[in-house]
Amino acid sequence: APRAYQTLLLFGATGDLAQRMLLPSLYGLDAEGQLSDATRIIGTARSEHPIEEYRATARAAIEKAVEPERLKPDALDRFLARLSYVSLDATDTGGYARLAEAIGGIEAGLAIFLSTAPSLFEATIEGLDKAGLTGPTVRMALEKPLGSDLASSREINDAVARVFPEPQIFRIDHYLGKETVQNLLALRFGNLMFEPLWNAQGIEHVEISIGETVGLEGRVGFYDDTGALRDMVQNHMLQLLALVAMEPPARFDATEVRDEKVKVLRALRPMDVEEVKKHTVIGQYVAGAIGARTVPAYAEELGKPSDTETFVALKAHVDCWRWHGVPFYLRTGKRLPFRRSEILIRFRAVPHSIFANRGAVLQPNALLISLQPDENITLTLMAKRPGLDREGIRLQEVPLDLKGDVFADTRRRIAYERLLLDLLEGDPTLFVRRDEVEAQWEWIDAIRAGWKANGMKPKPYPAGTWGPSAAIALTERDGVSWRE
Ligand code: BG6
Repeated sequence: APRAYQTLLLFGATGDLAQRMLLPSLYGLDAEGQLSDATRIIGTARSEHPIEEYRATARAAIEKAVEPERLKPDALDRFLARLSYVSLDATDTGGYARLAEAIGGIEAGLAIFLSTAPSLFEATIEGLDKAGLTGPTVRMALEKPLGSDLASSREINDAVARVFPEPQIFRIDHYLGKETVQNLLALRFGNLMFEPLWNAQGIEHVEISIGETVGLEGRVGFYDDTGALRDMVQNHMLQLLALVAMEPPARFDATEVRDEKVKVLRALRPMDVEEVKKHTVIGQYVAGAIGARTVPAYAEELGKPSDTETFVALKAHVDCWRWHGVPFYLRTGKRLPFRRSEILIRFRAVPHSIFANRGAVLQPNALLISLQPDENITLTLMAKRPGLDREGIRLQEVPLDLKGDVFADTRRRIAYERLLLDLLEGDPTLFVRRDEVEAQWEWIDAIRAGWKANGMKPKPYPAGTWGPSAAIALTERDGVSWRE
């Protein structure tokens, strides 16, 4: 199979993801010289657009998403010239022949990106197959949601597997394309000093928080049917957890890394009904204020009352030797005070303090891995405060961070740049394998079953707060506070 795929076929080409992320990412790659000259991009969606109109839409989307200093007129023109557009009703089998004609041939490699409603996946894959657009030179990238529970996810996976073998399937979790997420692996496995402590002896707890300030964002049908647990925890947060908790893979390659991640996902302690009651908290925002901006309640945005959770906090365990007894606290929600995604590793306290004076409170070390709003990794250490203190050494917590000046001039990338390049080059390491997705769903399904059995409904929290107070109590019971 060719290394660099020459045609990228984008389903859902007029959709939100294509406009906000995919086209700007592809432009970014092209402007940096990452696409081969022969690479073409064919957009497809149901609506009819003359090519000039589609290019104009793409231009506007790129101009909106890309920083002005990276918008080079030549590069943009060259990129737009690679673009073509074919209108296609995914359920109309006749249309695929036209598509095949536009593509011309798949010998040089075809990468397909499905960014459409999963209800169209089966029909699309069938249509592609009948039109001869499948085979060993074709790769298939699938955007979430891949089902809404284990059963529906299996159905999708089965449908794709009938046509594509697993190594040709690229399931997207865009969090894996984020620079800091990959940096977590560099930190863990490129340094000697963390791994000996990276276990229940060295680590007291792990916190993974993803706070968003946005609300429903007009995704009325999708979000209300999905909720925070399935929208964020099932995929992004469990992937982060797996990367934190996995054993060192023997190599940085798709099989080794994913083998280690799936072991973690399978070792997640299944929650029974009682544990769900004790260890999960769900919330839904009511009217409130984020900074100076007042925002309406979820039910008001939606236009009807709903039992969908817009916030979830939970306590998870990974049942294995390395993590025995170490809680993993996860929390995510819409309309929280800030946009902030991070992983906090809290190490254990030193066993005995030799500093007895009052100015010598020892804080346990922490490693903070921030994905958003800034990408950075910070280790907090105790240090002596300078000075001639008569009462003994005074200590202070000081951060050591990885941002420094070394990488100061690198630009921030869209996560999809990495993922699209890997798709074109055929490296599935940062994509999710079938067994991972299914292990994720299995664990999530039990939580949802528990909510149902317990009759749990989301508790209200005012927009602009960190969720219902029960989420605070969830960790305080263990003597732990969420990072504020
Ligand atoms: C998506 C969810 O997968 O991730 C959205 O569907 C969420 O609800 C988004 O807003 C968050 O991604 P990021 O990269 O902005 O943290």
